[in-house]
Amino acid sequence: MKLSEYAPAKDLLKDKIIIVTGAGSGIGKQAALTFARHGATVVLMGRTIAKLEQVYDAIDAENLPQAAIYPINFEGAVEKDYIDMADKIDDAFGRIDGILFNAAELGERTPLENYAADTWQKILQVNATAPFLMVKSLLPLLRAAPSASVVFTGSSVGYRGRAYWGAYAASKAAQENLMQTLADEEDGTSQVRANSINPAATRTAMRAAAYPAENPEDVKPADALMPAYLWLLGPDSAVHSGKQFDWDSEI
Ligand SMILES: NC(=O)c1ccc[n+]([C@@H]2O[C@H](COP(=O)([O-])OP(=O)(O)OC[C@H]3O[C@@H](n4cnc5c(N)ncnc54)[C@H](OP(=O)(O)O)[C@@H]3O)[C@@H](O)[C@H]2O)c1
Repeated sequence: MKLSEYAPAKDLLKDKIIIVTGAGSGIGKQAALTFARHGATVVLMGRTIAKLEQVYDAIDAENLPQAAIYPINFEGAVEKDYIDMADKIDDAFGRIDGILFNAAELGERTPLENYAADTWQKILQVNATAPFLMVKSLLPLLRAAPSASVVFTGSSVGYRGRAYWGAYAASKAAQENLMQTLADEEDGTSQVRANSINPAATRTAMRAAAYPAENPEDVKPADALMPAYLWLLGPDSAVHSGKQFDWDSEI
């Protein structure tokens, strides 16, 4: 079966506590809504509060489990912010059943010889260091769940670097490696699993910024990814850890 054909149960994520980073727009917004529609309480994490509030309201309007908003800008956040995050989530929920590391920035599309050093550092900070610091601070809450799924968002340029993708490609490669390290460290010691998903070309603001000449209608919408995302966050993927999936991988 292809992951894109997975048919999730309506209550697949009932009573699960799931964090989605970058939940205010694009794929993260669609994932947050979809997880709530399958029963999850979603912690909407991101930097633009107005966008997070729109997603919160959309979940509320459908009478789904009440979401939580956690504003954070990964560019400026320091380790203490992640420790505070863990304390607040512990107080509110006592555990985490899933994290979707979705937030990312594109940076510049330019040759390395022109790539701005401060942009490089920002992209590595947002796309790679922030997930590391979240893993570090939130692991006790993941281990407190009966079975927890951590999902990193990959990209084809993270599997193999490509001209002009600079820090974005390097940061995605770092996420894949972080996923593998986490999966290896947790293997056999807890119920925490870690995998990555490559959504491939998807109709969002980031895709339009990366490919300005492309007609957005030629690219699949974010809801086409949701079977794969539900499978990864839900119990049907419980035996998998340390693996890279595409949105339509054969399983
Ligand atoms: N779309 C594609 O074709 C494609 C292909 C391969 C991989 N991906 C990956 O899929 C994921 C989602 O991408 P997308 O296409 O949905 O992009 P998007 O529409 O640009 O969404 C990115 C999200 O990340 C948030 N974010 C960015 N910088 C942040 C920061 N400093 N602090 C907190 N949140 C921040 C954004 O918040 P704001 O809304 O406030 O800016 C936004 O919600 C990314 O990891 C991307 O690399 C996408």
